[in-house]
Amino acid sequence: MTTTSPRSIRLDALAYGGDYNPDQWPESVWAEDARLMVEAGVNLVTLPVFSWPLLEPRPGEYDFAGLDRVIDLLWEHGIRIDLATATATPPAWLVREHPEVLPWNADGVRLEFGSRQSYCPSSPIFREAALRLTRTLAERYGAHPALALWHVSNEYGDHVSRCWCPESARHFRRWLQNRYQTIDGLNAAWGTSCWGQHYLDFEQIEPPRTATGPINPAELVDFERFSSDALLELFQAEIDVLREVTPDIAVTTNFMSMFRELDYWDFADAEDLVTDDAYPDPSDQDAHIAAALNYGLMRSLKDGRPWLLLEQAPSAVSWREVNVPKAPGQMRVGSMQALAHGSDGVLFFQWRQAKFGPEKFHSAMLGHRGERSRTFQETKALGAELKTLAPITGTRVRASVALVADWDSWWGVSEPESLPSVRLDWLREARAWHAAAYALGQPVDVARAAGPYGEHRVLLVPNLYATTTEQAAALTAFVEAGGQLVVGPFSGVVDHREQIHDGGAPGPLRDLLGVEVDEWWPLADGQIRSVAFDTSFATPGETHGVRVWSEWIEVAPRTEVLATYADGDLAGRPAVTRRASGAGAAWYLSAGLDSDGMRAVLAQVFAAADVPVAASIDTDLEVVTRTDGTTDYTFVLNHGRADRSAPPIPGGRDLLTGAPSDSAIALPAFGVAVIAHPAPADPAPARTIESELLQPTRRERP
Ligand code: GAL
Repeated sequence: MTTTSPRSIRLDALAYGGDYNPDQWPESVWAEDARLMVEAGVNLVTLPVFSWPLLEPRPGEYDFAGLDRVIDLLWEHGIRIDLATATATPPAWLVREHPEVLPWNADGVRLEFGSRQSYCPSSPIFREAALRLTRTLAERYGAHPALALWHVSNEYGDHVSRCWCPESARHFRRWLQNRYQTIDGLNAAWGTSCWGQHYLDFEQIEPPRTATGPINPAELVDFERFSSDALLELFQAEIDVLREVTPDIAVTTNFMSMFRELDYWDFADAEDLVTDDAYPDPSDQDAHIAAALNYGLMRSLKDGRPWLLLEQAPSAVSWREVNVPKAPGQMRVGSMQALAHGSDGVLFFQWRQAKFGPEKFHSAMLGHRGERSRTFQETKALGAELKTLAPITGTRVRASVALVADWDSWWGVSEPESLPSVRLDWLREARAWHAAAYALGQPVDVARAAGPYGEHRVLLVPNLYATTTEQAAALTAFVEAGGQLVVGPFSGVVDHREQIHDGGAPGPLRDLLGVEVDEWWPLADGQIRSVAFDTSFATPGETHGVRVWSEWIEVAPRTEVLATYADGDLAGRPAVTRRASGAGAAWYLSAGLDSDGMRAVLAQVFAAADVPVAASIDTDLEVVTRTDGTTDYTFVLNHGRADRSAPPIPGGRDLLTGAPSDSAIALPAFGVAVIAHPAPADPAPARTIESELLQPTRRERP
């Protein structure tokens, strides 16, 4: 990140800091906070996220004295502000005066005040009040030199992502009218001739509240789209005010990683900087693998540009059933992983651990024991290390592989009441496919289904249930230009109206994949099925387990069958296929393969794309390279508790220790090295360096 381009964060270093809630502390504590922040290397603080009732104690009556003082104090210490618009939770006076601001759930029950985010996204009263506060804040602080970034609301969709109240119903109708123009258009798209759902007028439509039985799936998916759009409209309305008053200040809202409820492609388009809140579970030994996919999404939302980790826990959170702390070193390696994947900084929730409220057991940079707390010691040490990593600022991650994420498909396959099986979980599939690529040593970007696909040589499409002809055309062009495309089961099923494509699946992907699905054969719970690989695989004849899903497919003449079902009613029938097209090939996986099977297929795909494959699997060791085109910064991360050793990177130097990397790189438990070395002229060899690093190591967990 630099200060040069219009609307980028105003900061010349990697960002370091966290959420700060000075309202929860007497003012006498603030000076100590500022002093210790400096000691910890903090240069960016997020506030005042939940301070609306203090800033506007009564309608239209403002009190900025406290916020003025805290911002000035921080700025005197050289600390900049990620300034929240404070609209994440309305004050009690607003909801008591206008109870219709409160959201309703699908049962038509109004959700009471007393937690946070207690507003209906479609409420004009809420919107007006929020925009008034936003404008007042922008006018007051827009010229303050400490202002680095606008932080709109907070985690849109956290707690309340959908609302079924009468105001949302009116908004939903307007949204539908805009989409379909006429009620006949809607009737045709929703297929209301089924079950007698025909509408005469948009006024007859309600949001899909709990009904007598299964609800029209087209209506459900439209409600998902609408609900994402309703929050986006609110976000955009605040952005418009901020752009009008402070046109030079960058705007963000913090995302929640792979979050089903909001189409983050659209949200990212609206803002200047992508930021994410990441809470991998320290008790999950594979949490870093899912985190790598989350971070791949964050950097891809703006075409590879650096993003920012805006929240993570220094140790335990407070909202899981069991909140396990991070072991010594675990927070550091997790932070380094975010940097490796393109974040230009690390921030936490939160600075000082709360004394009261629902988050008093949530860890903070400064724990209840103050300076003596382990979290303070560890965050202070990390703050110092971040300064040595300054050269990575603004550099980008190189990746040859991308995974397609499409919210329409995600929403479509998660409607519970009308699918062949509810066991096909979009996110679980995406994670399983990503995990296979990760295990083979490749960082994975994320792409839109219709592209652009950038420099990627492999596209992974775990599921594209809803496929449009435009998407199919873009994917076909990718293959013809030499790409390797891998498509998972239950793809190409419906169009954008949730209607089955003529001739059945895979619809507009039929020619590209060279298959037709005759029928879906989801696995019953407990049913065990396998596929057998043919001679084109490294281990011909090997069988691999099938998870969740299988299909009866028919293959077209030029389609190769690479694996067949080995048992059950589909025994002997094709399971995995490939069809060459132009300079590339399209692979189809009609079954959910187990992790070994996924890796075996992807190893073949990578070989075809000339993407190197790690010789051995060690998922605790991760290697990711950021580059500025001249210098590569290769992060070597040990996510495990056993010592590891990575091969040398000749001509390199560890930015953290200054040690040359000409001999083996020793990594203790949760160890990290960040090797700066000359970038190869051709990007492809950079992948080889990463792959070689992975080869000789194979250690078991202790
Ligand atoms: C985030 C939220 C923060 C804090 C944090 C605790 O979801 O934005 O305000 O609640 O979780 O982990």
